[in-house]
Amino acid sequence: MGYAMVKRIYSIEEEMDILESIEERGEVPIKYDYFGIGSKRWIDIAKSRLREDTKAINILERILLTQKASTIFDSLSLYGYKNFNLIDLGCGDGSPLYPIFQYLRYSRPRAAIRYNPIDISPDMLRASSTNVKQGFRVYGGQNKFDLDKGNFSNLTSKLNRTGFGNLFTFLGSTLGNMPDMRRVLVNVRESMGKDDYFLVGVELVNPKEIGKMMHDYYDVHYVYDLLFTTLEHFGIRKSLGEYRIGFNRKRSQVEAYFTPDKDIHFAIAGKQATLKKGKSLLLARSVKFTVTGLTDLFSKAGFRVEILSTSRENNYAIILVQPHL
Ligand SMILES: C[S@@+](CC[C@H](N)C(=O)[O-])C[C@H]1O[C@@H](n2cnc3c(N)ncnc32)[C@H](O)[C@@H]1O
Repeated sequence: MGYAMVKRIYSIEEEMDILESIEERGEVPIKYDYFGIGSKRWIDIAKSRLREDTKAINILERILLTQKASTIFDSLSLYGYKNFNLIDLGCGDGSPLYPIFQYLRYSRPRAAIRYNPIDISPDMLRASSTNVKQGFRVYGGQNKFDLDKGNFSNLTSKLNRTGFGNLFTFLGSTLGNMPDMRRVLVNVRESMGKDDYFLVGVELVNPKEIGKMMHDYYDVHYVYDLLFTTLEHFGIRKSLGEYRIGFNRKRSQVEAYFTPDKDIHFAIAGKQATLKKGKSLLLARSVKFTVTGLTDLFSKAGFRVEILSTSRENNYAIILVQPHL
């Protein structure tokens, strides 16, 4: 009798990390949703959010980056750099950086550009490299790393090139999904040189628009499909429980939960585990910032703010920072 080969999605260490997070924190880590089928789900969501009529965060960010690209590179050029190393953290499909590549192509045609995606998901790394290399003349490589796991200066020191200015990016409000945002920012700062810049895109909160935001971005089945990906990779079906999404005003974050209707048994990291009936699991958080909260967070993580620019309706911001001396 033959056995079908099942392709392994996560390493044993990753499965252990998922199990520990479920058992100890009641949370399915969102970072594992972008593996396998989840990468395709994310790419579809990102594409749909780039349509101008949606006014969704991806298009708002694209507009801001297009407007601010020359100011950003004026800052990097203060150090005399003519070539640029782009280090794209949580790269997704690479599309958030297109306005930057377009700016460089037309305004700095002689510049050599290296594109270095860093992401936990091998599928997202492949997608971003393929997309960016198809559309733009850039050099660089893919780097698998979990930003929760400490600083990655070993990796960034290998990416440095003489005469290249480093621009780290963390776009698409991915920062707001992180369980410990300050820790991740410190990890990034410890992996940067003192002349390097860090560009981050985040969603802002407008207290009057919370209802509309919840409806536009979250109350839709394809977001739930994405957020359920990790559990689905272990054979768990959505129909075995209830999905709930809400806005936690105290923490200024959207929270999505799955609550099983009965005990669900599944195999993970070579063991049997159980999701308990009625015990809610956090599938995702997405922090919505105020401008003050944002500058405070970066300052406490050891950065100084160079540029902060908000969208016309004050619902999205990009922030360019540098490590404190
Ligand atoms: C919401 S998507 C955003 C992608 C892209 N920046 C954008 O704006 O379209 C989050 C991305 O960050 C990656 N990611 C999430 N948590 C991560 C972590 N702890 N370490 C490394 N990558 C992570 C995911 O794999 C995914 O590619």
